[in-house]
Amino acid sequence: MKEQIEKLKSEAKKFEIKTKEQLEKFRLEFLSKKGKLNDVFEDFKKVNPEEKKSLGQLVNQLKIELEEKFSRFNNELDSDKKEKNNTLDFTLPGDAMVLGSRHPLSIVQNQIISIFNRMGFIISEGPEIEDDWHNFSALNFPENHPARDMQDTFFVEKDMALRTHTSSVQVRVMQNQKPPIRTISPGRVYRNEAVSARANCFFHQLEGLYINKNVSFADLKLTLFQFVEEFFGKGTEVRFRPSYFPFTEPSAEMDIYLGTGSEEDIRLTKGTGWLEILGCGMVDENVLKNCGIDTENYSGYAFGMGIERIAMLKYGIKDLRLFFENDVRLLKQFEGVF
Ligand code: DAH
Repeated sequence: MKEQIEKLKSEAKKFEIKTKEQLEKFRLEFLSKKGKLNDVFEDFKKVNPEEKKSLGQLVNQLKIELEEKFSRFNNELDSDKKEKNNTLDFTLPGDAMVLGSRHPLSIVQNQIISIFNRMGFIISEGPEIEDDWHNFSALNFPENHPARDMQDTFFVEKDMALRTHTSSVQVRVMQNQKPPIRTISPGRVYRNEAVSARANCFFHQLEGLYINKNVSFADLKLTLFQFVEEFFGKGTEVRFRPSYFPFTEPSAEMDIYLGTGSEEDIRLTKGTGWLEILGCGMVDENVLKNCGIDTENYSGYAFGMGIERIAMLKYGIKDLRLFFENDVRLLKQFEGVF
C-alpha cells in the first residue's frame, strides 16, 4: 500500500496543469468520487489495525498534497483571467464628467457679497436661534410691537425664537466691535407665514451696517446706488420712499424701476413699474446706545434685503417654492454659473 501511495504522489506531481480543462482532468482523475484518492481510501479500510496508524498519516498527507495542488492552480488560473479582463483599452472614449451646479440663491448671495466686499464690507454671522433681546429689544421694538406676536415668530421657548431677520446680527457686531464697522450679514431667517408662491416660512436676507464718524444718509444712498448699478446694470432707475422700521430713523425703502413693458413687470410691480427691493435707514440712536456705541461721536446706516426676491427678479423665477424643492430640472439650468 505504501508503494501505491508513493506512486500516486509522483503521478500527481508530474501532472501538468496549464488550462482550466487540465485542472478539471486532474480533479476527475485524483479527487473526484471515482478518482484515485478515493481508491486509496477504500483500500485503507481493509488494512489491518496495526498498520492503520502509520499508513493513515501517509494517506492523509497524500490527500493534503493533492488538494493543495488543485486549489493552487485553481487560484492561479482565476487570477490570470482577472488580469486579462483588467487590461485597459486607452482608445475607449472617456466618461463625461457630470457637472453639479450651485443653487440660484447661493449664486445671487455670492454676487451680492462680492459687490459689497469690494466696497470694504466684511461678512459677519450670528445664530439662527436668537434671544428676544438681540432680535427685538435691542433693535428698539416696543414691548407690544406686532412683530413679536406669536403669529410672526417661531418661539423655541420663552424669550428664545428663530430669528425673524438678520438685523439681529447688527446688534451682536456692535456689541463686540469698535467703530469703524462696515459689515454685511447674509443668512436664513424664519417667519410664521402661510407658504405660497410669494412667501415661505423661512427665507434669506442680507443685512448691511456701517458705523463711523459723520456717516450720513448721502453715504447710504451712494453705497446702494453703487450696488444697484453693479448688480442690475448701469442706468437702473432707483427711488427711495419714506418708511418705518423701529431700528432706523429716518427709514426708507428702495425701489428699482422695471417699467410696465411686459405683463410680468406689470404683475410684479402691481402696475406701477416700481419694485421694492430693500429697507434701509440711519441706525436709530436708541439702537446704537443699546449696543454700547458712543453716539456723541458715531452714527451709521443699515440696510436689509431679501435674497429670494432679488433672485426671482434676476432669473425670472415666478414661484418662491421652487427654491426649496431641489428639483434638478431647476438646478440644472444653473450649471456653470457662479
Ligand atoms: N429687518 C428688516 C426686515 O426684515 C429689513 C431691514 C430694514 C433691515 C431696514 C435694515 C434696515 O437694516 O435698516 O424686513
